[in-house]
Amino acid sequence: MNRRELFKTISAAAFVAGVSGPVSSQAFAQPVPSVPDTHATTDSPREVLSLNTGWRFHMGDIAMPLLVTHDDTYNAAKAGRALGAASPAYDDAGWERITLPHDFASFQPIVADANVDQGYRKRGIAWYRNHLKFTPADKGRHIELQLDGIATFATIWFNGTLVARNWSGYNSTYIDLTPYATYGDDWNVLVVRVDADAMEGWWYEGAGIYRDAWIVKRDALHIATDGVFAHPVPSPDGPADWKIPVEVTLNNAGKTLGQVTVVSELWDDTVGLLAQDKVTAAVSPLGQAVVHVTLHHNRPRLWSPADPQLYRVETYILDGDRTLDRVATVCGFRTERFDAQKGFFLNDTPIKLKGVCLHQDHAGVGTAVPDGVIDFRLRKLKELGCNAIRFSHNAQNKALMDACDRHGFLVMAENRNFNASPDYLAQLEWLVRRDRNHPSIILWSVFNEEPMQATEQGYEMVRRMSAVVKALDTTRPVTAAMNGGLDAPLSVAHAVDVVGINYQQDKYDLFHTAHPDIPVSSSEDTSAFMTRGEYITNKDKHIMASYDDEAAPWGETHRAAWKAVAEREYIAGQFVWTGFDYHGEPTPFTFPSNSSYFGIMDLCGFEKAAFYIHQAQWIDDTPVLALVPHWNWTSGDTVRVMACTNLDEVELLVNGKSAGRQAGNRFDMNYWTVPYSPGHIEARGYRKGKRVKAVRVETTGPATALRLIADRKSLAATGIDAQPVRVEVVDAKGRPVPLAHDRVTFEIDGGAIIGLGNGDPTSLEPEKGNMRSLFNGLAQVIVQAGDKAGTLRLRATAPGLKAADLIIPVTAARPLASQVTKA
Ligand code: GAL
Repeated sequence: MNRRELFKTISAAAFVAGVSGPVSSQAFAQPVPSVPDTHATTDSPREVLSLNTGWRFHMGDIAMPLLVTHDDTYNAAKAGRALGAASPAYDDAGWERITLPHDFASFQPIVADANVDQGYRKRGIAWYRNHLKFTPADKGRHIELQLDGIATFATIWFNGTLVARNWSGYNSTYIDLTPYATYGDDWNVLVVRVDADAMEGWWYEGAGIYRDAWIVKRDALHIATDGVFAHPVPSPDGPADWKIPVEVTLNNAGKTLGQVTVVSELWDDTVGLLAQDKVTAAVSPLGQAVVHVTLHHNRPRLWSPADPQLYRVETYILDGDRTLDRVATVCGFRTERFDAQKGFFLNDTPIKLKGVCLHQDHAGVGTAVPDGVIDFRLRKLKELGCNAIRFSHNAQNKALMDACDRHGFLVMAENRNFNASPDYLAQLEWLVRRDRNHPSIILWSVFNEEPMQATEQGYEMVRRMSAVVKALDTTRPVTAAMNGGLDAPLSVAHAVDVVGINYQQDKYDLFHTAHPDIPVSSSEDTSAFMTRGEYITNKDKHIMASYDDEAAPWGETHRAAWKAVAEREYIAGQFVWTGFDYHGEPTPFTFPSNSSYFGIMDLCGFEKAAFYIHQAQWIDDTPVLALVPHWNWTSGDTVRVMACTNLDEVELLVNGKSAGRQAGNRFDMNYWTVPYSPGHIEARGYRKGKRVKAVRVETTGPATALRLIADRKSLAATGIDAQPVRVEVVDAKGRPVPLAHDRVTFEIDGGAIIGLGNGDPTSLEPEKGNMRSLFNGLAQVIVQAGDKAGTLRLRATAPGLKAADLIIPVTAARPLASQVTKA
C-alpha cells in the first residue's frame, strides 16, 4: 500500500496587463537587512563572526584507515586523535573551495535514477573542512560554533575530537569549542562529514551545510545561546497593561563563581527606552543560572499582519560596571486565541487565516536561500493577500523567522520528526527555545500526517511532545496536522489544543458537531495542479492548465478549498498546499518532471493563475481584477477567459465588443468562452454600479528584445546580499511576449550568479552556470554582490534578440564580520 492508498483508507501566466503583471524594481525597492537581527547588536562585547568562508569541500565519502596494529587501534580511541579526513593533519589542499550556504545537491544534474521526491538529484556523502585561527586575546572567552542547518546527518570534529553528531536536517548545532581550541599561530581544524543519503522527508531537502555557520565569542560568563525568553503578555490588571516576563539563562565557562547583575530593557527604536528591570545572579563555575526580571509597558502598539510593530529587549550582564555580554531580542505585543465556535482571534479581533504551506527551497539555490530571496518570497506572499504561513514540515532558517516578524505573518511552526524519544524531544525543545520570541508564531505543530495519529501510542507520544512545548512556552497552543482518525474514540485530537485537519474537508462539520469545544483549523488543503503560463492540459507532456480544474484525489481545487473554509466561522483558516512550487514531489508526474505542480507561484515566485484566484478570494480592502490567459492564440481558436475579481460585477470585452457582464464570483471566478482574433481582451470591474478598475491583455508582436528587471534598486556590499532578477522578452512596443522560450546567456561583472530558474517543472537544465531558457516568457537569475561598493552589471543575450543590460548599484555597507580562516 503506498502513502496515498494509506491516506485514502484512513480518511475516507500569462502577463496580465495592469494588475499583477511585472512590477518595476521601484515598486519593490526596500532595504533588506543582511544580518540576522539577533546577531545585530552593535555595542555588545560578544563577537558574532560569520564562518561562511574558508571551507574546503570533497564530494564523496573518504574511508577511515583500517586499523590493524595495537598502537594504531589504541591511539585511534583517544580524544584529539581522529583519523583520516577527520584528522587535523589530513591534506585537503586539493579540495574545492566553497562558501556557505552550500547545497551540494543543487549542483547535481537531474537524472532519472535518483529519488523522485528529492527532485531527481543524487545526494550522497561529502566532507567539509575549515581552518580557524583564534588570537591569544580570545583565551579565556567562550567560543561557540553555530551551524544553522546541515542536511542530513552530520558528524563534526574539532582539532581531532568528535564534538557533535546531529541527526536532523533542519535543526541548528551549537558546539562549545572552548575546551579544544588553541590560540595564536596554530590553526584549529574543523571537519564536518555529511551523510545526505539519509532523508527526512518526501520533498527536496538539499544536501550539505546549506545554512549559515557562525563563531560566537563571548565572555566566559555569558547569556546562553537562545537564552533570553521575552514574549509580552497582557497583565491581568487591565487590557492596556502589559508585561514581559523575561527569562535569562546564564552560562559560566570560567573557573570562579560569577556574581553579576542582569539587566533587561525594553526599547522602541523611535521612542527610546521604555522599561528596565534588573536582578543579581550568582553563577558557579561551569554552572548555569536562570534568572527572571519583568518589564512593564502600557498601551504598546500592537503587532499584527497589517502593522507588524516590533520592539526590542536588550539584555546585558554587568560585572561591576563592566558589560560582560549583551543580546538583543526582537519581540511584539499581541494576544491570540483559538475559539471553537468563532475561529482565530488576534488582539481580540477575529482574523481568518489565509495561509500557505511552504517548503524552504527556491529556484537556482536549492535550500541555500539567501536572505534577499527570503525577503522577495515574503513580499510576494503579502502581495497575494496571504497572512499566514505553515512551515511544513520542519524548522526553518532563522533569517526567515525574523522576516516573518517584520513582514507580519501568522506562523504555524512545525517539528519534523514524530517521536517522543529523548533525541527527538531534544529537537522539538530546540525549536521552541530558539523560536518562542517570534510574535509571528501562533501555533506549534508537533507532526504532519502520522499513521499513529488515531492510536493510543500516537496519543501518548503527542501528550509527551506537548508537555515539552508547554514547559518552554504556554502562550501558544499545540496542534498536529491530521489526515485521518478524526472520528476515532482516542486520537491525538484529544492531546492537542487546536486540531489541524489536512484535506478531508467533508469531515469538518462531522468533527465540529462531535467536538464542539475543540478549536479547529485547516492545517493543509488544496493540492491542485497548475503549470505557469499553460492553458491546455496535456498529461503526456506533463502540462497542467491554469483554470484550477484539477486537484490531487485527496485535495480540492483552489476555489473549492477556500470556499469550504470561508463558509465556516469555526474553522480558523486555511493553509494552501503550497505557496510556491518546490523541487521534488512532482505529483502527479514523474521524470522528467522534477519539481512540484502545487504552487500558487512557480519555483521562481512567478505568478500562476492561482495567484489571481487567491487575490480575489483573500483581498478585501483594494479592488482586485485580473485576466487569464494571454492573448497570443491562433485565429479561429476558441479561448476560455477567466477573470478573477473581488468586485461586484465584471464585464469582458473582446476587441472592444462586450462578451457579457456578470456578477463577480469570488469563490468560483468568472468565465467566458470566446473566439480568438488578435487584438486585446479587457475586463472592466464594477463596484456598486461604478467602474473602479479595468485590465487589458494584448496580443503582442514578435519578440525583439530581452529585458531584465531587478527586485530591489540596490544591493548592500555585505558580501552576502543577493536578489532575484526577472528575465523576459518583449516585443517592439515593450510588451512581454508570453510564449517566448528563448535560450538566454548571462554575463556578470561586479558580482556572481548563484542560481537560475524558469519555473518549468519538466526542465532538465542545470540551475547553476550562465544559461537558462525562458519558460512561457520568463526566467530568473539570482545575483549576489561582493563586499565592495560599486556596480553589479548583468547582461543577457539571446540569438535574434536585442541584448539587455541591468546595472544594480552595490552600496557601501558594514561587511559581515568574519572569523579568520585559512586562505
Ligand atoms: C500532503 C502532505 C504534503 C504533500 C502534499 C501533496 O499529504 O502533507 O507534504 O505531500 O500531501 O499533496
